[in-house]
Amino acid sequence: MFGPVQITSGGLEIREFQPQDADQVAAFVAADDRTALPPGSPPTVADVNGWLAGTVRRRLDGDGVLLAIADAASGEIVGSIGLRDIDWKAGRGEIGYGVLAGRRGQGHASTAARVVGRWALTDGGMRRIQLRARLANVASLRVAEKAGYQREGTLRMADWDGEKAHDMAVFSMVTTDVEPGDATR
Ligand SMILES: CC(C)(COP(=O)(O)OP(=O)(O)OC[C@H]1O[C@@H](n2cnc3c(N)ncnc32)[C@H](O)[C@@H]1OP(=O)(O)O)[C@@H](O)C(=O)NCCC(=O)NCCS
Repeated sequence: MFGPVQITSGGLEIREFQPQDADQVAAFVAADDRTALPPGSPPTVADVNGWLAGTVRRRLDGDGVLLAIADAASGEIVGSIGLRDIDWKAGRGEIGYGVLAGRRGQGHASTAARVVGRWALTDGGMRRIQLRARLANVASLRVAEKAGYQREGTLRMADWDGEKAHDMAVFSMVTTDVEPGDATR
């Protein structure tokens, strides 16, 4: 299992989705704007409470973490970040993130990817956090670099959008990249 996550950095609070988020999450779902919600977000407003409860179960079961990226001052959710595809034996996990269209370009994804990667490799007990992004997703490639992930290469035709295959860049952050005390910086 993973312990609870609550990190404050760069004016953001990065923490688990919680029952008090029901109204904000329901508003995203009602508007069908899922850019601030992780993959597997609730299909309808009626599913929001069950989904929020499921995010806690997921963490306790060690299957991953689903975290809100919130403005620390206002509590407004501006994005999400999570870990999935956890392999406890190898100590591996995959990180993914998204930020609301109107809140991009302010360093939010880079801050979140950096601190969540460091948390995962310290308190989270992981050894390697992998980050994959389509080669065409220039913003995400830049986030990976700015957050301190090392580019390892290209996974050819690794992603399928239903019509076309896409090459993906693969990055990682590993335990030896993290200094003690780095966890929340
Ligand atoms: C990728 C994403 C999370 C970035 O969020 P963000 O909070 O805007 O990211 P940051 O502000 O930390 O950094 C973005 C960087 O990309 C750069 N960037 C953005 N669009 C760009 C473009 N078209 N070409 C080149 N650079 C670009 C920004 O200038 C910034 O770099 P800089 O600080 O050196 O100027 C956001 O665009 C998003 O949610 N996209 C849709 C979901 C997605 O693609 N998720 C990642 C899946 S792998």
